[in-house]
Amino acid sequence: MRPGLAIASLLAPPAASTGAESVDTLMLGAMALVVFFSVLIFALVVGFSVRYRAGSDAPREDPPRGNMRMEVGWLVGVALLGVVLWAGGAVVFVTEGRPPQDAVTIAVVAKQWMWKAQHDNGRREINRIHVPAGQPVVLRMVSEDVIHSLFVPAFRLKQDVLPGRYTTVWFEATRPGTYPLYCAEYCGADHSGMRAEIEVMAPADYAAWLAAGAPARSLAAEGAGLFRAKGCSGCHGAPATVPAPPLEGLYQRPVVLSDGSSVTADDAYLRDAILQPNKQIVAGYSPLMPTFQGQLDEDELSALIAYVRSLRDERPHRPLEVPQ
Ligand code: CUA
Repeated sequence: MRPGLAIASLLAPPAASTGAESVDTLMLGAMALVVFFSVLIFALVVGFSVRYRAGSDAPREDPPRGNMRMEVGWLVGVALLGVVLWAGGAVVFVTEGRPPQDAVTIAVVAKQWMWKAQHDNGRREINRIHVPAGQPVVLRMVSEDVIHSLFVPAFRLKQDVLPGRYTTVWFEATRPGTYPLYCAEYCGADHSGMRAEIEVMAPADYAAWLAAGAPARSLAAEGAGLFRAKGCSGCHGAPATVPAPPLEGLYQRPVVLSDGSSVTADDAYLRDAILQPNKQIVAGYSPLMPTFQGQLDEDELSALIAYVRSLRDERPHRPLEVPQ
């Protein structure tokens, strides 16, 4: 372990999310191993130095030439410890990559030099993200310019925020309170000032906060408006002049592509489908859709995706894929 990491973990704020606790357990376990072996080896070095110093009367004739049991035990024991640490890390890594299906999704846009957040009911905020305690929350993030990195020490979370591609983190905050959020990727002159706060509220307070500032239209309703205004409904709606894949029931289900492969219709897929429509063609449909690159900003993309998400439980008006 790097010494910087050990010092950082001693200085870190108390864990404030379920994931942070498992990261801490892993970290403390690794540190305990390092301390144990450091002390053991140091003690043996000192002990043998004293015992076999020049002129001591320790026996030196017929020293042991080898001990197979000790060597095998040492190798296997250390390998098993390594596997235990690896397994703990793998569990944290895999858990972090799979947000629960019922998580609250908040769209986060980073730019030089601020953090913008959009809630599902349409409420927006800057440099402050309100979240409920005791519920899983997904931050789906994208940058409007350069690479930034979201870093919340109390949640032991750090994830790069990239232009042109969604990345996500999720957490379940355990205690209401205010937790600092930093940008952890050098992104220009005011990088060090690119800070925000995560405000964790009791679920009832969060609901009240959300309702208090809600605009007339939810994010999904805004997306529905764009869906018509941008002409998407002409093909994806019913009836359609040129039938395109329907959007009802699409969100998070597998989609078969024209090359026979299959992808999940998650936020990243929907984003690509809008901006690079010819990258992945749904089986049975023709590559006719024009790109909307440069015609939609990040907020509008979020609204369109929220609209598709709002249709997840509806029945498609035509088959999603056409068998070939
Ligand atoms: Cu954004 Cu550093």
